[in-house]
Amino acid sequence: MTTTMNLAVFSAKSYDKEYLSRVHAASPQASTAITLTFHDFTLCSDTVALAAGADAVCVFVNDALSAPVLQSLADAGVRAVLLRCAGYNNIDLLAAERLGLLVANVPSYSPEAVAEFAVALIQTLNRKTHRAYNRVREGNFALDGLLGSTLHGKTVGVVGVGRIGLALARILGKGFGCRLLAYDPFPSEAFDEFGEYAALDELLAQSDYVSLHCPLTEGTKHIINARSLGIMKKGAVLVNTSRGGLVHTESVIAALKSKQLGGLALDVYEAEGDLFYQDRSGEIIEDDELMRLMTFPNVIVCGHQAFFTEEALTEIAQCTLQNMCDFIEKVPCKNSLVGEGHLRVRPESLPVRI
Ligand SMILES: NC(=O)c1ccc[n+]([C@@H]2O[C@H](COP(=O)([O-])OP(=O)(O)OC[C@H]3O[C@@H](n4cnc5c(N)ncnc54)[C@H](O)[C@@H]3O)[C@@H](O)[C@H]2O)c1
Repeated sequence: MTTTMNLAVFSAKSYDKEYLSRVHAASPQASTAITLTFHDFTLCSDTVALAAGADAVCVFVNDALSAPVLQSLADAGVRAVLLRCAGYNNIDLLAAERLGLLVANVPSYSPEAVAEFAVALIQTLNRKTHRAYNRVREGNFALDGLLGSTLHGKTVGVVGVGRIGLALARILGKGFGCRLLAYDPFPSEAFDEFGEYAALDELLAQSDYVSLHCPLTEGTKHIINARSLGIMKKGAVLVNTSRGGLVHTESVIAALKSKQLGGLALDVYEAEGDLFYQDRSGEIIEDDELMRLMTFPNVIVCGHQAFFTEEALTEIAQCTLQNMCDFIEKVPCKNSLVGEGHLRVRPESLPVRI
């Protein structure tokens, strides 16, 4: 490989710089072929001009790659967009395809990292360890209000049994002894050893815990809404570690107030783009729905950290730089989402237009 190309990394936090730089330095191929530039701000219409001079950009979940942003990238000479995440709901793939940009993602990085985090959220809500932690630090060792229930034997509904959903099914089925139901319009035999497939409404009606692991698409946007919450078992717990747009926030607030929903754990939030991955602790947060959610004792909100393990960051860096090397060497990139005049994702998995 002789060509050296510039990769501009947007939304680069200290850990992105650390892991990408470490993997870059350790790879003779990547360190020879790729020059890295880091920007700590997101890529959007206001910042796209800073991509000038780059051959490719590397982005994360809250960078907004709408058609006009992609057009500006193409006009500036950028030929590839490398997502350092699995989800691709933040990029207009049809526009990218039209512009002839390579778009590649990191389809799988430690699915167990996300699945294990979903289990941590379920058990935190279930056993109220978030409340016990604060209480004990104040010298209050009373158990009133901390009553949980045993997970063993409970029914867990998994919406979307791809890599992460399957990892969750494995942990909860084989480890905790839960009964598992799954809804997925593209069923695979891999789930058969853990439980049964069911229609979405049936899953919602029977599950004590519902965990979302499907992508955000036109078809799944607000898959959890007033109607679906009404079908759920009274007091059931909802966990979303997938994408915020799957859940209609106003409806979950109403369901929590009426006690129809017994608990909610969110690692992702529909309007997270302006908040997550930033320290806003000294500011007034204007998002009233998020602030209302955080007043409930049976709600946990985390800032999109389910993926955040050392193993996953290493895999993300390795895969992203390999995608870039494939792009430079002009060899087929196995993680390409577009190419040769067609999208490589199922039409029904197309992202919500941004
Ligand atoms: N919180 C985090 O840090 C984090 C990290 C990685 C991924 N994610 C999210 O998790 C999601 C799942 O990741 P994955 O690696 O398991 O993806 P995957 O592609 O392996 O699995 C997704 C599954 O969802 C199914 N699906 C598609 N449409 C559906 C629908 N309408 N209803 C139910 N299921 C449907 C697919 O058939 C597939 O089996 C990603 O789309 C991403 O948004 C979040």
